[in-house]
Amino acid sequence: MTSADHALSPLDHEGVNDAVSHALAAIAAATTPEMIKQAKIDHLGDKSPLAAANRAIRDVEGPRKAEAGKAMGAARARVLEALEAKGNEVAAAAEAARLEREKIDVTAVGPRLRLGARHPLELVMDEISDFFIAMGWEIAEGPELEHEWFNFDALNFDIDHPARAMQDTFYVDSTSVGDGKGDAHLVMRTHTSPVQARVLLERDLPLYIACPGKVFRSDELDQTHTPVFHQVEGLAVDKGLTMAHLKGTLDHFAQSMFGAEARTRLRPSFFPFTEPSAEMDLWFPQKKGGPGWIEWGGCGMVNPNVLRACGIDPDVYTGFAFGMGIERTLMLRHGIADMHDIVEGDQRFSQAFGTSGKGK
Ligand code: DAH
Repeated sequence: MTSADHALSPLDHEGVNDAVSHALAAIAAATTPEMIKQAKIDHLGDKSPLAAANRAIRDVEGPRKAEAGKAMGAARARVLEALEAKGNEVAAAAEAARLEREKIDVTAVGPRLRLGARHPLELVMDEISDFFIAMGWEIAEGPELEHEWFNFDALNFDIDHPARAMQDTFYVDSTSVGDGKGDAHLVMRTHTSPVQARVLLERDLPLYIACPGKVFRSDELDQTHTPVFHQVEGLAVDKGLTMAHLKGTLDHFAQSMFGAEARTRLRPSFFPFTEPSAEMDLWFPQKKGGPGWIEWGGCGMVNPNVLRACGIDPDVYTGFAFGMGIERTLMLRHGIADMHDIVEGDQRFSQAFGTSGKGK
């Protein structure tokens, strides 16, 4: 290539042809828009031999000036033409490559989204609520941080009843609530039964309510216990209710939870808030070691003292009540052997129950 020092003459046909050939070779070798741009700078730019020769036209004297101008015009036109043709080609290739890179297969199968799971306890509680609502009962709720009076006194617990003892009940430090002075008499409710007293005070009679909810006892977490668990409470107060109504309700409830074969049996027992009181057993065909009865909850006729404490005349109204553990119901129904599975919150456990609660 002719250096800038020995500027190419516009009349040096061979030299101009050489410069054009160099330019065409560089253009032919370009494979990207950047290389085309560079070839243009190198071969037509200010510092290129062809530009120098073009500038030198003005120094040509006389009649050869026109010849020089024509020669340079033709030389530059060849280079420009090649630049344009190759530039288009390279740009089209670059565009095609970009489209290929960004191609989306709209028919491709997307990543599978896993359906979430609701916790089976929630599902069973919904199912229980639905059962009672279908019978025309109402769902009631009460606070988990409960006044000792509702949790014990209103339910006829003696002042020295063992259930009040610290080893069962979480008492709430009186300095952390209220004005911080004196005993606020607050407990984490140990059962859902205080809701009985609350609804008896708040609602009109007759009443039929179910209350699923969280309860607290100072138990260690092990295979069958957890310090925070769930119960469902049932309470019916009306004129003329008897234990037959209680038994019928329990059998119906058991069948809804455990299938058409389910039955219940009552065994005499004691609860301060019912009289008479009974433990309620469930006929359990899947029991380890053969079919048999298994304890499911407690029940009885509402103790007249409870009705009186809530301003109701026990000579006019009678009632029945029952309560059972929801974790226990779930464990019995699905053969869950270890409470840890229920408490730990592993999605894989919940997933097995689907979103309806009765299993997939
Ligand atoms: N509250 C009792 C408990 O936690 C269960 C219970 C027993 C509830 C008898 C009742 C009932 O309503 O009548 O052990």
